[in-house]
Amino acid sequence: MATMEDHATRWFNVQSVPHSYTFPPEKRPGKHPFSTCTAIPIINLNSPEKSDTIQKIIKAGRNFGFFQVIDHGVSESVSTEALNVLKELFNMPLEEISRDAIKNGWVHMGSTSFDIDGVHLWRDNIKHPCHPLEKCMQHWPQMPTRYREVMATYVQEIRRLSWRILELICEGLGLEKGFFEEISQVQFLSASNYPACPDPSVTLGVLKHFDHSFITILFQGNVDGLQVFHDGKWIGVGVLPNAFVVNIGTQLEIMSNGKLRSAEHRVMTNSEEDRLTIATFINPSPNCTVEPAKALINESNPPLYDSFMFKDFVVSSNAFGPYTEVVQTKD
Ligand code: OGA
Ligand code: NI
Repeated sequence: MATMEDHATRWFNVQSVPHSYTFPPEKRPGKHPFSTCTAIPIINLNSPEKSDTIQKIIKAGRNFGFFQVIDHGVSESVSTEALNVLKELFNMPLEEISRDAIKNGWVHMGSTSFDIDGVHLWRDNIKHPCHPLEKCMQHWPQMPTRYREVMATYVQEIRRLSWRILELICEGLGLEKGFFEEISQVQFLSASNYPACPDPSVTLGVLKHFDHSFITILFQGNVDGLQVFHDGKWIGVGVLPNAFVVNIGTQLEIMSNGKLRSAEHRVMTNSEEDRLTIATFINPSPNCTVEPAKALINESNPPLYDSFMFKDFVVSSNAFGPYTEVVQTKD
């Protein structure tokens, strides 16, 4: 019964959007309907034409900063199980979620912790590091009881997929094999619950932002919401059954010396159904020097970005919020 009562009094269980979630007019997404863009490439990772796959990835990375992958080798049951266990977690009473987060040392950001000029985002979110697995797992949610087991399988599969895509990118850019291997040993999970919203035109699930990763892999179930800024307008990244959305983070844009682009994106809400997503970020290691890869620099291709240590960026940008210390000191 406690669960039912708690759910009924949750922040999103309202007839109209409260003032504290209503963005000022200039920041609202407005009433334009969510239109899905068919131009964002869908790439089959199991194609026998490897060089063709690589070219598609590089082109998508350059033109959109986004693509979707299918036939990627991660079984559907692994992703749907991960979504299911997260759904159970987000449905737990708030006090239980907070207690678990404090006890185990992971981050729960309830909707009111997102305060952008005094306005809250329309989402609940959890975050935790994922690699090395055994060490990180001890600081994951203990409830639901299946959480650690189910999510361990998911993040390992996604890490493998991420590295596989990074290796294809490496080959496509003409970098030596294994270029990213040592420097991309940090993985974070960020799962979000975007409840159905009475008025999507005045709210946002996530404000426009760049990911500060090498690459991000997103599983978005079967509900639309993600938009990418492309050619001066917002376009929808449609949902494809069992596909993953892949996007180029700012650190990979720098290392590729701008051959790949990181694109701004945001999350719309919808009035029909809840949307649950799992993002995992592959980030540079703290001591990684982020700079345009030397192999891509010559007289006619000068470096377009300055060099810096990733851990210094983490501190100065505060892009990793509560995990600044972890990202900064872990090796
Ligand atoms: C993110 C992100 C998109 C989504 O977590 O950085 O952009 O659809 N998520 O949840
Ligand atoms: Ni993002």
